[in-house]
Amino acid sequence: MKKGTLLLLMFALALQGQAQGLKDVFKKDFLMGVSLNPRNVRNAAEQDLIRKEFNSVTCENAMKPGPLHPSPGVWKWEEADRIANFCRENGIKMRGHCLVWHNQFADWMFYDESGNPVDKETFYVRLKDHIQTVMNRYKDVIYAWDVVNEAMSDGGDNPYRNSKLYQLCGDEFIAKAFQFAREADPNAILFYNDYNECDRRKSRNIYNMVLKMRANGVPIDGIGMQGHYNIYKPTVEELDAALALYAPLVEHIHVTELDVRVNQEMGGQLRFSTDGAALSDSIQALHTQQYERLFKTFQKYGDKIDCVTFWNLHDGCSWLGERNHPLLFDKNLQPKPAYYRLVGK
Ligand code: G3I
Repeated sequence: MKKGTLLLLMFALALQGQAQGLKDVFKKDFLMGVSLNPRNVRNAAEQDLIRKEFNSVTCENAMKPGPLHPSPGVWKWEEADRIANFCRENGIKMRGHCLVWHNQFADWMFYDESGNPVDKETFYVRLKDHIQTVMNRYKDVIYAWDVVNEAMSDGGDNPYRNSKLYQLCGDEFIAKAFQFAREADPNAILFYNDYNECDRRKSRNIYNMVLKMRANGVPIDGIGMQGHYNIYKPTVEELDAALALYAPLVEHIHVTELDVRVNQEMGGQLRFSTDGAALSDSIQALHTQQYERLFKTFQKYGDKIDCVTFWNLHDGCSWLGERNHPLLFDKNLQPKPAYYRLVGK
């Protein structure tokens, strides 16, 4: 081969290698996703990073019932549309998040005009209208929905969270939400989504609920493992045990909100420490090793896991705060050692 041709080939390979992002490296395993806020899709550098690294997008907050549907007949589509249109323009699929959640919910659905609690049937009429209006608006770009989020408790005798939803409906709201969602979009993959999903007690409760619902014909297609982890936990054994429990039960598993904070807290609870820790070499090494362990285990279950989504694009916009250093890109969009370990550089 002539020297010139060899150089040209090397340049082309280097260029191709340079263009390789997370979505290319893991394309045989699963989609690589990221949750976005409206500022991410207004920023040119962040848009470039999204396009290079990811092939699935979730709205961090814009599609939640409270922000989207703040009062009867009032819809705030702007932020959700901005993100959805970015995805449409760039050929990126979306995960919808979320249709029913005790937090950031459209709480007006529980009350009549005089502020008195409504009965279950009235609530279901309102919930059905919400679910089907939202799903119909985005069914061209959304392939999967977190239909119900965080309905299981973090402790105590009751496996269910004692939310307003549960107090009014028992666990029937879960079945109804999935039924309304299936009617709205027969093609969407419908998920139950929760955090601390590797905890022994909670994983068994999630498993038992999904098993019971599916046995009763409730169309739960998948389990969303939020993946709000830290540099120490879950261990490989704990993650593997949860995946081994869920994998035979459902057709799809998504890791839906992955981040690895440098302190010892876990989960999606809204009370958490933003203190983090200084990113010393040893902490950075633990961060890299945990991400490597997690992805090796995700790949082991690649036949069931078909999407891994990071929660937020970079440390500067993480819900955990930048001092928790939870993501693969720092606040200046620079890849960390964990990124290079995952892409094999
Ligand atoms: O939009 C309002 C703004 O108008 C107001 O000025 C400001 C100050 O009060 O609040 C803004 O709303 C905030 C919203 O994020 C948008 O920034 C809420 O207060 C704040 O509570 C909300 O936090 C979100 C949290 O869910 C609670 O809904 C986080 O950004 C979001 O990352 C987090 O995501 C959840 C997942 O949806 C479910 N799993 C757990 C995960 C972490 O809690």
